[in-house]
Amino acid sequence: MKMNNVSLLFLSHLTLFFICACSQNIAQTQFVYKWSETYCNKDTPVGCKQTPPLKFTLNGFWGTDPNGNIHQGCRDPETRDWNRVFDTAMVSKLTLFWPSLTRQDPKDMWKEAWNTYGTCTISRFKTPTQYFNRASRLDSEIGDLLQSHLINSNGIVPCDSATYSNVEILNSFKQVSNNKDVSFTCKDINTTHAYLNQVTFCYTNDAKNFVDCPTSVTNKRCRVQNIIVPRPSPP
Ligand SMILES: *[C@@H]1O[C@H](CO)[C@@H](O)[C@H](O)[C@H]1NC(C)=O
Repeated sequence: MKMNNVSLLFLSHLTLFFICACSQNIAQTQFVYKWSETYCNKDTPVGCKQTPPLKFTLNGFWGTDPNGNIHQGCRDPETRDWNRVFDTAMVSKLTLFWPSLTRQDPKDMWKEAWNTYGTCTISRFKTPTQYFNRASRLDSEIGDLLQSHLINSNGIVPCDSATYSNVEILNSFKQVSNNKDVSFTCKDINTTHAYLNQVTFCYTNDAKNFVDCPTSVTNKRCRVQNIIVPRPSPP
């Protein structure tokens, strides 16, 4: 009996994996930023090369199914000329919002993003250039807004001694997303306090219009009552 359950579970996971890995028809896209200081210094150490910037930087851009499951690991049908993809203009565009905070070469990081996630969005973005241009476009639409609502306004101030409620953080993000539902995660400190970690914006499959993030995604939202947006400090 036990064995049966286990093998059934295994089979259903295999099927899911199969669907996710092979279908390129994405239902939505997600644009996910990380709060750089949490990523560098409040989570599992990743070895950041310098004091992180006082801002969100891109964590990833990918396609999902209607339930928010990420499509990844598709095969690239073509060999890419990466020197042409990452020309000077593209590098300077991407560096603005998608820097490598670790010692990893940013071009390697972007290549990895295309190979892991971009290749599964190929029904929408035919080439790495289209994929990265769309990411850059999304950042130009919301990056500054995000920065001004969270950082530069009298709203939320990154500071280790200030705490914000879940609702305050959510409302602040929703001003950026045209009031569509977003998700954000935290790195827990204890049962009452946590550091803000990532924020996920959900879009139509062409990554042009905001949509509400699926419940399965918003269900994972950080819900502690005291959220800290930590401020980077020089060593
Ligand atoms: C939880 O962490 C916060 C921030 O570090 C701290 O101020 C608070 O006292 C902690 N609460 C408990 C119950 O340990």
